[in-house]
Parts: sequence; structure tokens; C-alpha cells
Amino acid sequence: MKKIIFVAGARPNFMKIAPLLRALKHSAAVRPVIVHTGQHYDTNMSAAFFSDLDINQPHYNLEVGSGTHAEQTAAIMTRFEKVCLAEKPAMVVVVGDVNSTIAAGLVAKKCGVCLAHVEAGLRSRDLAMPEEINRMATDAITDLFFTTEPEAKRNLLAEGHADAKIHFVGNVMIDNLLYQLDKVKKRPSSGTAKTIKKLLPAKYLCLTLHRPSNVDNRETFTGIVTALAKASASAPIVFPCHPRTRAKIAAFGLSGKFIESGKTDRKLTSGICLLGPLGYNDFLYLWKDAAAVVTDSGGLQEETTALTIPCITIRNNTERPITVSAGSNVLAGIDPGRIMALIEKVLAGTWKKSSVPKLWDGKASERIAKILIKN
Ligand code: UD1
Repeated sequence: MKKIIFVAGARPNFMKIAPLLRALKHSAAVRPVIVHTGQHYDTNMSAAFFSDLDINQPHYNLEVGSGTHAEQTAAIMTRFEKVCLAEKPAMVVVVGDVNSTIAAGLVAKKCGVCLAHVEAGLRSRDLAMPEEINRMATDAITDLFFTTEPEAKRNLLAEGHADAKIHFVGNVMIDNLLYQLDKVKKRPSSGTAKTIKKLLPAKYLCLTLHRPSNVDNRETFTGIVTALAKASASAPIVFPCHPRTRAKIAAFGLSGKFIESGKTDRKLTSGICLLGPLGYNDFLYLWKDAAAVVTDSGGLQEETTALTIPCITIRNNTERPITVSAGSNVLAGIDPGRIMALIEKVLAGTWKKSSVPKLWDGKASERIAKILIKN
């Protein structure tokens, strides 16, 4: 039986390994070993995802926690090397573009283990993004590439990788989304998300923001929040907030621009309602019915595209261009006027109907599983 290590570390990784593990659950050919690096560790950033997404508890939790990029990457490498040497896997599978992805990839390759990268080949061409460095460096040493959109293959070929190693399989994020959507429809959320939804009108927006380029600079972050606060006069905005963003709201004295979710039971007809981070299903329960999602996340650009929900992305570029050509995603940058104009367009109902990209059909993991078994 072939032993394959699946590595996940940060919030967006968990939904990518979940469908892969499901696809291999009954395989007699592969024995999966799950390694959680511990890059994310708060319950709602980590454990909640394991239970929501039906992932077995990890065989290893490296518990690296937070730190500078060098500290975090180095800690993952040192601890993951011990696992690789002990387990002697036939293959290591990494997903996405977080620090855990490149750290585990480097270790696997230097231990002489075949490295597979799920969501390979995406490029924003913005080297100020730590994720872009992680993507490029991971793909430089990857043996088996799994891609989500045609542009990714073009990028990999242009970087000199062999066609035979690149497999256009579709999008595992969407496998997970469709699986969870079904669950959420059958068994709706019971916690904070349900309480908040009861207070919302038919037209509301969901917001996520956590990218250092948006939230670490006082002027930029204040500009974005001010624009959103104005726009929220027309429709309320629900904002499950990443811990790093929560810290910046306090540091920049912006708390007055938000309504704390715990402190309101009145109908939310306007304003930005601030929540702690939510588990996957709780957040899905909220955004699946939103008029639009405003975000700087990579994954949500894809998930909104799959459900043809308008997505206003607070970035100047995207490594996921198919979400823009499909028509669901628009890059708003950080210009307050543009952000407001796009929100108005959504609320006026003039956003054009979008399409769903090829192979975003919920079966990407099955395609990957077949290739993993064969290689
Ligand atoms: C990481 C990824 C980013 C991804 C994001 C999703 C990298 C380079 N970045 O960014 O691509 O979109 O995850 O969330 O890998 N913190 C907590 N609790 C946690 C985790 C983090 O409080 O469970 C706080 C800590 O103050 C920490 C900060 O968030 O220092 C940043 O965490 P980190 O893992 O370094 O990066 P993210 O911003 O989460």
C-alpha cells in the first residue's frame, strides 16, 4: 500500500485536503497520513474546520503556531522533516499557497520524496504577496502538478515544466463547497450565524479581509473600512473577522465603524456587523444567500464563482483570472469610490449573470485520486 502524506496548516488548506481524503477513503492502494502543521491553531481557524469538513483527526500536529515568515517556515521544516524521515512516504501532497505549503514541499523534495501540488500554477505576478513567493517556489520543485484552470497550465509550461506532469483536474475547493452546501441545506447552522441571519433583511453583503496589504497599513485599511461603512447604509454587511484584522481594528481606532455582533439583537438594516471567525459551514450558511461577497480571499473568489454570486475583490490583481472571465468576480482594488460603485451595482441588480468554469463540478478529487494511485 502506498503511503501518502497530506499536509495542511492554515484555514484555506483544510477544505482542499478534505475532499481528497474522502476520495481515497476506500482505496486499497493508498494509505493517507494527515499532517497538520499548526500554522492556524485557534478553534475557529482550525479544529472547527476538521469537524465541519469531516476530516479525521491529523496523525501529526506539528503545533508551530505564529511567528515571522522565517520562524514559521523554519519551524514547519524542522518538525516536518522528522515526520518524513520516520514515515518514509511514497509521496507528499501539498495544497494551495500558504507558508505550510512551501515549507513541507521543500522538506519532501530534500528527503527525496515525490512532491504533488494541488492548485499549482496560479500566478498573481505580485511578488509583494507572500503567497506568490510560496506558489512559485513550490512549483519550482513539484513533480506532479494539479491545476484548476487553463491559465495555470500555461504558466507552468512557460516556466519550463513538462506537459506530462501537469494535470488539469478542476477545483478541489469546489468539491468541498458542493459537498458542504448539501449538508448546510439539510442541517442549517445553529450558532451565531443563525442568530445573525434572522436579523438580516433579504439583501445583505458578506465581507472578509485579512491580507497584510489591506489591513496592516492604517491609511489603506481606514479607507476601505470608511467606504464599506458608507455602502452599508444601503445594505448591512456581515464581517466574520480574522484575528489579525481584529487586532488592526483595535490598533487603528476603527472599532466605532462596526456593530459588535454580540451587542445587538435589533434588526440589522445597515452597518457592518463584526463577528469572530466562523467555521466553514456557519460562514457558508451566511454567504450562500448574500447579494454579494466583498473579500480579499483567494478561495472565496472561486467559491462565489461556483455559486454565481457576485464577488467584489479588494485587490488589484488575482492569481485566479478565470473567476474574472467567468463574470462573477471584479477586481475593485482599494479605491473607495470604485468599491462603493460596485456595491451599488449589485444592489441595483445590474450585475451580469456569470458562468461556472470547466471541471468545477465536484469531481476534481476523484480525478486526482486516480492519478495519485497510478503514479
Ligand atoms: C495565512 C496565509 C494566507 C491565507 C490565510 C487564511 C501565509 C503566508 N498566509 O495568512 O495565504 O489566506 O492564512 O487565514 O501562509 N492568528 C491567530 N490565530 C490563528 C492563526 C493566526 O490569532 O489560529 C493571528 C496571529 O496573530 C498571527 C496572524 O494571525 O500572527 C497571522 O497568521 P499567519 O498564519 O501568519 O497568516 P494569516 O494572515 O492567517
